[in-house]
Amino acid sequence: MDHHRPKSAKFEAELCAYNGVPHCLAMNSATTAQEITMQVLGLQPGDEVITTSLTWVSTLSTVVLQGGVPVLVDIDPKTLNLDPAQLEAAITPRTKGIIPVHLTGLPCPMDAV
Ligand SMILES: Cc1ncc(COP(=O)(O)O)c(C=O)c1O
Repeated sequence: MDHHRPKSAKFEAELCAYNGVPHCLAMNSATTAQEITMQVLGLQPGDEVITTSLTWVSTLSTVVLQGGVPVLVDIDPKTLNLDPAQLEAAITPRTKGIIPVHLTGLPCPMDAV
């Protein structure tokens, strides 16, 4: 238990148990989490990251900050999220990642993604 941030440590431990994973790290914001995720991915200049055209700016800015190129895929009007059919067409040899976004309480269809 981390005594400097006991509530976060308890939350992380419960999140690990819930997800059945050995490590979880709570962040102060979604933007920070996205920035660190892009750093861990090790994006190289020109690497492409596919995401949805209906999202918050940090979905794109954190990719650009690491030298990556955001590739926007249109939404499915039924879910307002990334359209899996169009996602497949956007994949290239430079694709390094995909950022699905669950917006307005409607989950992105993750099985199809
Ligand atoms: C899809 C998405 N990503 C990131 C953010 C940014 O979140 P935060 O303010 O926690 O950095 C938002 C905020 O609305 C969001 O909708």
